[in-house]
Amino acid sequence: MMTFLIGVYLFQNKRAIPIEQVFVGKIWGKPIEFLPDVKGVGAPTAINCGSCHTEIYEEWKLSTHANALRDIQFQSELAKSSSPKWLCLNCHIPIQNQRETIVTALRGGDFFQPIEIPNPNFNPEMMEEAITCATCHVRVDTITNESYVIGASGDTSPPHPIQINRKFLHNRCNDCHNETYTLNQSLVCSFQTGTELQSSNPNGTCVSCHLPEVQRSFVKPTLNRPIRTSHRHGFIGGGVPKTFSLYKDQIRLGYKPGLVLAELKWEKDTIVIRLKNQNAGHHVTTGDPERFYRLILNGYDPSGKIVYQEETKIGQDWEWTPKAKKIKDNRIPSNEEFVWKLNPTNPSGAISRLQFQTIHVRLKDQTSEYMIQSAKHVPEPYFENVKKIKELYPHSSIVIETVYDVKLGKRKDTSLVELFKRNAERRGE
Ligand code: HEC
Ligand code: HEC
Ligand code: HEC
Ligand code: HEC
Ligand code: HEC
Repeated sequence: MMTFLIGVYLFQNKRAIPIEQVFVGKIWGKPIEFLPDVKGVGAPTAINCGSCHTEIYEEWKLSTHANALRDIQFQSELAKSSSPKWLCLNCHIPIQNQRETIVTALRGGDFFQPIEIPNPNFNPEMMEEAITCATCHVRVDTITNESYVIGASGDTSPPHPIQINRKFLHNRCNDCHNETYTLNQSLVCSFQTGTELQSSNPNGTCVSCHLPEVQRSFVKPTLNRPIRTSHRHGFIGGGVPKTFSLYKDQIRLGYKPGLVLAELKWEKDTIVIRLKNQNAGHHVTTGDPERFYRLILNGYDPSGKIVYQEETKIGQDWEWTPKAKKIKDNRIPSNEEFVWKLNPTNPSGAISRLQFQTIHVRLKDQTSEYMIQSAKHVPEPYFENVKKIKELYPHSSIVIETVYDVKLGKRKDTSLVELFKRNAERRGE
């Protein structure tokens, strides 16, 4: 009797529970189903799409999306024993073709106990492409069981099946960039970019800023197609790319700081610095809760020595243990301002020049230090890269810099081009 009861207990606890019962209505609970070859293309890989859509492919290759799997920070966090890897991969390499295994169910409904079988259709080349073209553009027709491409223009004549659905393409971003979900006490997903945009501009879409328009042919010149309204596919975000070599393309592909330095003045006893979130439809910073801005003010004496220094921060503060909890959030919503007021003493004009910098931080020095220390859990071929993260991974970028002449009351801004040349040479936070 006793053994029978224990048996029932184990059986009930370890029953295979379908994923959709555990993550009800969550699109990221499962990868996109297996996509068979696309007629006129072959396997739905970016490299195949790129054989005709050459320029779009070249842009996408430089994007964070294309680099999302080899991302050193991602590999380091994925390797933590607290990460339910299969679930992380559902947003970071989101198509079944990209996955070595198929997760059929969860044992006892526990997301740390996926039941996995080998995937006969695994395409390792496509896995490397991470958030590849097909993530947004290819699906399977439920009636014919054939793959088709999703477009938004119409009146085009592609050699592959096409269905026009602009709304689908535009809404797709929110599937990954707008999710708040508590997995357990210390695993919380907190991305509200879609909601932030919605509250500042109910009809706004990510595409208007992150896929800037450009007039060009959709395909390579030898195919002789007309010039149309096309979109850059660099998916530029906060200006801190995944490798140092990617800095040189940020501005060309559309980078703009969200913040604009609306005012810097020193009148009587008070320095006033006004920053406005003029260019982002959402808060700055948005997305990953660990992103933040460092605001740094340096005062120089006439000989060029720093005699005054202040620093503050715009971002979120979270406590991760014992329970994930947001404790502070002073991010700037779209179109709103942040005002920093300071009252330095300036005995007989000791401060002749102020330098103000805004630095977008993606990864703190302290966090990458920790990643190096726990690198032994990271599998090959990423292990070596995590150990060299300080050298290989941009942690931050200077996005605003100005120098203010105290006597003249005038400022001179450093150009973005100059800043990004310097960013490519900087290291750390
Ligand atoms: C053999 C060449 C070729 C390949 C390979 C190819 N395409 Fe196309 N595609 C075209 C041509 C040609 C057009 C039509 C261009 C025009 O008429 O201006 C097109 C149009 C499109 C459009 C726009 C359709 C519209 O009306 O909005 C999308 C989106 C698209 N392709 C995506 C893809 C994706 C994704 C892949 C890979 C799965 C791919 N293509 C592979 C040649 C190709
Ligand atoms: C399948 C999930 C998924 C979808 C769909 C998706 N993204 Fe992303 N996106 C990600 C992930 C994951 C990252 C971060 C990868 C990393 O940092 O390694 C990212 C990064 C970005 C970044 C770069 C941020 C930076 O500073 O580098 C931008 C911008 C972005 N996405 C915009 C979009 C837009 C616009 C859309 C819709 C057209 C979209 N994304 C659709 C998952 C997705
Ligand atoms: C994160 C989602 C996403 C990914 C990944 C993505 N696209 Fe797009 N693509 C879009 C959106 C959104 C549009 C613009 C729709 C519109 O016209 O409003 C678009 C437009 C297009 C078009 C129509 C022409 C144009 O520029 O507007 C083509 C062709 C295309 N994409 C091909 C590709 C190829 C090839 C890849 C991979 C190398 C790719 N896309 C990756 C979301 C994506
Ligand atoms: C009005 C233009 C605009 C719209 C609309 C917009 N963004 Fe942004 N986005 C920006 C700018 C500008 C930045 C750079 C912000 C900064 O200074 O870091 C940015 C940065 C980002 C980043 C990087 C994180 C960061 O804090 O820099 C992500 C991720 C992102 N956007 C995703 C999205 C998604 C997803 C949508 C749609 C829900 C969207 N954006 C809509 C302009 C826009
Ligand atoms: C719902 C989709 C989703 C899931 C699930 C998900 N991520 Fe992400 N992840 C994103 C998006 C979107 C971004 C981009 C946010 C940004 O750029 O600020 C991102 C960015 C990241 C980054 C880069 C942060 C940066 O600032 O560069 C890391 C690392 C990461 N995720 C790790 C993980 C791990 C580990 C898991 C599993 C525990 C996971 N993610 C699960 C959507 C997801």
